Amino acid sequence: MAHADGPQAVQDPQRPQPGQAALGEPILEIRDLVKHYPLTQGVLFKKQVGAVKAVDGVSFDLRKGETLGIVGESGCGKSTLAKMLVGLERPTSGQIRYQGQDIATLSGRAMKSVRRNIQMVFQDPYTSLNPRMTVGDIVGEPYEIHPEVAPKGDRRKRVQELLDVVGLNPEYINRYPHQFSGGQRQRIGIARGLALRPEIIVADEPVSALDVSVQAQVVNLLEGLQDEFDLSYVFIAHDLSVVRHISDRVAVMYLGRLAEIGTDEQIYDHPTHPYTQALLSAVPVPDPEAREHRERILLAGDVPSPADPPSGCRFRTRCWKAQPLCAEVVPPLEVPAEFQDTESPARHASACHFAEERHVVPSD
Ligand SMILES: Nc1ncnc2c1ncn2[C@@H]1O[C@H](COP(=O)(O)OP(=O)(O)O)[C@@H](O)[C@H]1O
Ligand code: SF4
Ligand SMILES: [Mg+2]
Repeated sequence: MAHADGPQAVQDPQRPQPGQAALGEPILEIRDLVKHYPLTQGVLFKKQVGAVKAVDGVSFDLRKGETLGIVGESGCGKSTLAKMLVGLERPTSGQIRYQGQDIATLSGRAMKSVRRNIQMVFQDPYTSLNPRMTVGDIVGEPYEIHPEVAPKGDRRKRVQELLDVVGLNPEYINRYPHQFSGGQRQRIGIARGLALRPEIIVADEPVSALDVSVQAQVVNLLEGLQDEFDLSYVFIAHDLSVVRHISDRVAVMYLGRLAEIGTDEQIYDHPTHPYTQALLSAVPVPDPEAREHRERILLAGDVPSPADPPSGCRFRTRCWKAQPLCAEVVPPLEVPAEFQDTESPARHASACHFAEERHVVPSD
């Protein structure tokens, strides 16, 4: 058993869970991934006085061709996780296996060649595009780093094809980011992400900064591109409602760790972790009658600081079911014993000592 602030164990990831059989082989295998940012004191002689445990023992597989949604409140470590997956941050410890090779520790040329295949789409299309570069230069910039993908004479044509693929007029190639709307700018960011023909796209809250009316268009675009280019997605959001329709599986993250992971049906219709249940109870329900029958679970208090997370279960300071055991033992992310020998859709990994099914949202 894991002790109070020890790592979070995972069940044998090879064992298929209900609903996973149809999905492909793992393309990324994440094991015990950790990112601690040192907290220092003193100006001249910096002394480490602690660490922000932004990501603290996360394990999951991304399967070929699937979309894995990752959901959690602001500050729970989603962007830090995304940056480690694409090589923008180096993990403190843990493994990121891509095609069987641990890429967490690669550097130089080896890293460059792997990074070509794992691209990121950023959250904020207003700040992630350089305002002084034309759209053509922005989308074609990855070819400067990887000239082998598109020879110089071909690049303009390639960029115009990419603009067309994401639904922008190829004639806009000489325009600047400020001449586009938010949704169009996110399309530019997506075109840039596709430039090197990656296998994996990590999209960090790609629609959070957009108007609700535009969000669905960008999500639909990403869905269409997935089929066209055979992509696997990690799709990050802070709200469960955004990822529902695009995700094959969903992982719920809390304070640097995963609380629950399963197929979209398992997570939305048969959640067993109290945190997931609370998040679901806050998802907007369009049908007024269904809304009346839905129960709201209000969480007490704020998210604790990742510099000083609670012992045992990190959710215990806000959990209405917390018992003394929850402070003493880290709940492993595994199928809870009571569901192990069942065919129930509640049979999926949930990091709770007292996991039980609770129907929160009316099915659609
Ligand atoms: N470069 C950094 N240095 C120190 N702390 C950081 C850094 N980046 C993120 N953090 C902290 O790590 C935690 C997780 O942040 P982040 O990964 O951005 O969460 P999310 O994307 O879920 O909102 C937060 O407490 C944040 O303040
Ligand atoms: S382990 Fe305990 S504190 Fe954590 S979610 Fe389950 S019941 Fe709540
Ligand atoms: Mg973020």
